[in-house]
Amino acid sequence: MKILITGGQGQLGHDVSSLLGRNHHVMACGSKELDISDREQVKSVFFAFQPELVVNCAAYTAVDNCEKEKSLAWAVNALGPEHLAVQAEELGARIIHISTDYVFNGNKPHTQSYTENDFVAPLSEYGKSKLAGEDAVAAHCSNHLILRTAWLYGLRGSNFLKTMLRLSLADPQRQLKVVDDQYGSLTWTATLARQIEALLPSEMVGIAHATATESSTWYQGACYFLDAMGVPANLSPCSTEEYPTPAHRPANSILKNHRLEEAGLSVFTSWKDDIDRFVALHRDDLLNQA
Ligand SMILES: NC(=O)c1ccc[n+]([C@@H]2O[C@H](COP(=O)([O-])OP(=O)(O)OC[C@H]3O[C@@H](n4cnc5c(N)ncnc54)[C@H](OP(=O)(O)O)[C@@H]3O)[C@@H](O)[C@H]2O)c1
Repeated sequence: MKILITGGQGQLGHDVSSLLGRNHHVMACGSKELDISDREQVKSVFFAFQPELVVNCAAYTAVDNCEKEKSLAWAVNALGPEHLAVQAEELGARIIHISTDYVFNGNKPHTQSYTENDFVAPLSEYGKSKLAGEDAVAAHCSNHLILRTAWLYGLRGSNFLKTMLRLSLADPQRQLKVVDDQYGSLTWTATLARQIEALLPSEMVGIAHATATESSTWYQGACYFLDAMGVPANLSPCSTEEYPTPAHRPANSILKNHRLEEAGLSVFTSWKDDIDRFVALHRDDLLNQA
């Protein structure tokens, strides 16, 4: 199959490209080769490559920066997906678009999770622009699948776990305050890439949640990861109030993979299993990168 992957240099885009590239004709574009907010560029790449499937991993993901760089956030997260969806529809292609848990406001108690049918009410510009991207994809391409994922980490790029590792290695005595009242599911990009591959034969349309199962706070996730790495650290749990950020984040963004599970298509297991596998596979690389 001819597959166009946007955001190909990002942490998810990289893992999706390497996995799908084994059995498919993949064109993976970074933002330099394909700026999805540029309609004409999107048109010409589609015309030249004629993809049968587009996997949109491109996004403006700096959640706090989205608050002050609203127009850029909306251009990449809302208009970009619209351009891709319009071109996919014109070619009769399918689009798999990646979205986020931050479309929810997090008001549910953290003993509960969000399903695909739950009411969306994003708290941040990032969440609002990503929700607009979901709507645009659904409106403009009939053959679409929107995968909402969360709290991604992988070997490439920067992410929360790698930041915790870098800071702890730099000074194991330094006390690091980590938020302990926001709940979600740390999800490994390699597993999400496998999920996308498993979905290639499927004709599922609409929205599906796609995260590791079970949940933690940021603090619990960081402790588990650093422990698995065998790296001494001085983490201290704190509240969201004690660690204010420009963007508001949901207190609970635990997603239930209801549709994938119902269809018997979910490849996900618990977030702890994935961290164990991530560390077993990449411990040396992670230490070298940090
Ligand atoms: N990271 C998370 O915790 C998280 C959580 C939930 C959902 N998601 C979603 O998962 C997807 C993948 O996220 P990720 O963590 O892999 O993000 P990432 O590492 O930040 O990668 C995003 C990629 O998008 C590219 N990009 C930015 N602007 C672009 C543009 N105008 N045109 C084309 N490409 C552009 C960036 O390329 P350049 O660097 O070259 O600009 C970057 O490589 C995104 O849809 C994100 O919203 C992420």
